[in-house]
Amino acid sequence: MIRFVTLNEGKYREVSGMLEGAGFECEMLAIDYPEIQCDTLEEVVKSSMAQLTGKIEGDFLIDDSGLFISSLGGFPGVYSSYVYQTIGLEGVLRLLQDVENRAAEFRCCFGLCFEGRNVLFVGGVQGMITQEKRGEGGFGYDPIFVPAGAEKTFAEIPTEEKNKLSHRGKALEKVLEFLKEQ
Ligand code: IMP
Repeated sequence: MIRFVTLNEGKYREVSGMLEGAGFECEMLAIDYPEIQCDTLEEVVKSSMAQLTGKIEGDFLIDDSGLFISSLGGFPGVYSSYVYQTIGLEGVLRLLQDVENRAAEFRCCFGLCFEGRNVLFVGGVQGMITQEKRGEGGFGYDPIFVPAGAEKTFAEIPTEEKNKLSHRGKALEKVLEFLKEQ
């Protein structure tokens, strides 16, 4: 049984779908923990795991993700959550008004505490920021992100399809490989 520590139901839907599809039981643990501000997702995950160690029984998984926009020097990156809650999608689109280079990358870092050992797994997906919001599915920045080689935003495709392309799906494939080897 893997406990996925998150308050985000969208993330849980994606992660539980993949874990259960691979035969692993999964449970959502809605614990709020302060995320310290760091320069990288990996540092955020390491610090979060240190805070959670000893507070959760058994194996657990956490996820920190961010959207890195090239023309903004990687912003919002590790500040993605704050930016989403403050200026939101409209604000990000405004920052990119008349900007030609719309390249961006979504990155995800999972921290897995497995039998007392902490292991990190990362995944990323390149793509473009749209001119306007499109789609009703997904969560967060999904309505403004089109993965490379596709035409639809993450909010316009079903969860299973997003999982095949996404930063989270790629990082979770590595988690699954690790779990299968144990
Ligand atoms: P955190 O990992 O919960 O800190 O997420 C940072 C921000 O990025 C939040 O506003 C999330 O909604 C957003 N985010 C994380 N993963 C995704 C995703 O897969 N799609 C869209 N937005 C995401």
